[in-house]
Amino acid sequence: MAYILVTGAARGIGHTLVERALARGDTVIAAVRKPEDSKRFPPSDRLRVVLMDVSDSSSVERAFEEVDRWLSGIHLDSIVHCAAISAPGAIELTPVSEFDAHLNTNTIGSLRIIQAAIPRLRGHGGRLVLVTSLWGQASGALLGAYCASKHAIESLADTARRETAGTNLHIIVAEPGVVVTDMLTGQAQTAKAHIDKMSDHERSLYGTLYRRYFKLVSNASGITPEQCAAGIERALFDPRPATRYRIGKDSRIVCMLNWLLPDRWMDGLMGLSLNNKPLPADGA
Ligand SMILES: NC(=O)c1ccc[n+]([C@@H]2O[C@H](COP(=O)([O-])OP(=O)(O)OC[C@H]3O[C@@H](n4cnc5c(N)ncnc54)[C@H](OP(=O)(O)O)[C@@H]3O)[C@@H](O)[C@H]2O)c1
Repeated sequence: MAYILVTGAARGIGHTLVERALARGDTVIAAVRKPEDSKRFPPSDRLRVVLMDVSDSSSVERAFEEVDRWLSGIHLDSIVHCAAISAPGAIELTPVSEFDAHLNTNTIGSLRIIQAAIPRLRGHGGRLVLVTSLWGQASGALLGAYCASKHAIESLADTARRETAGTNLHIIVAEPGVVVTDMLTGQAQTAKAHIDKMSDHERSLYGTLYRRYFKLVSNASGITPEQCAAGIERALFDPRPATRYRIGKDSRIVCMLNWLLPDRWMDGLMGLSLNNKPLPADGA
């Protein structure tokens, strides 16, 4: 049975991956950010919860040292890096500090994981799966910070894979489309909070876009965390793993169109996904 470490394990896709791995009989290290989240898992002698804040280098180092002590020489088979943040906001209106937070948590957080993972997975066919998004390939309005952070992870993954070629290590990207988790609820709440505190000038420029985004994300349908976890598990267990796994029909379609179509056509399609939603009355 496999030894798997999952980051962002407190909620959503990461939590589902942990549950499924335990049910399969694997041994799991669940990395969570908050101490109280260690209680979110069923008791098991095949589970170890470690505290890891991926936005903090020393926290990541401490967590991996603890993992090494616990495994005491046993190889990790795989690491699935799920931890990330996502808050919508127009580029013109979003403070640089918000971009900083996304890039530090999502991109530099992934870099911290990649650096810790390579020496621990190399040489025995270990697999690192970095969960990005369809937004690691395409770009969408109000998702500038998130998209930039995920695009950069895609590049880090390609670079690290090429640098470690031939060392019996797999670095794989998983690109889900929409998955119904707290992330969507959080995006809707953030969009609503922005709408509520916009100045009249900001509202005249971006109010409609934010309200359409709020409507879109509030009503979004997508795959379940279980379906997403099953897609990620293909990256973990396929005998000859691909470099990228597009999970969900929306991810496959958007990534393919983004590759195929000229920019202006993509602008139109992305606009349609927001503009053809019915607009609620003022103030909604
Ligand atoms: N949901 C989607 O539609 C979707 C689509 C494509 C890709 N993805 C990607 O899939 C992954 C999982 O997303 P999800 O939908 O499961 O999100 P989620 O339900 O919001 O869970 C995110 C997880 O990341 C953790 N996290 C956030 N900041 C962290 C930090 N600094 N250190 C450690 N952990 C941190 C959270 O812990 P706390 O509870 O402590 O904040 C939480 O456990 C993410 O990489 C996301 O970008 C999601």
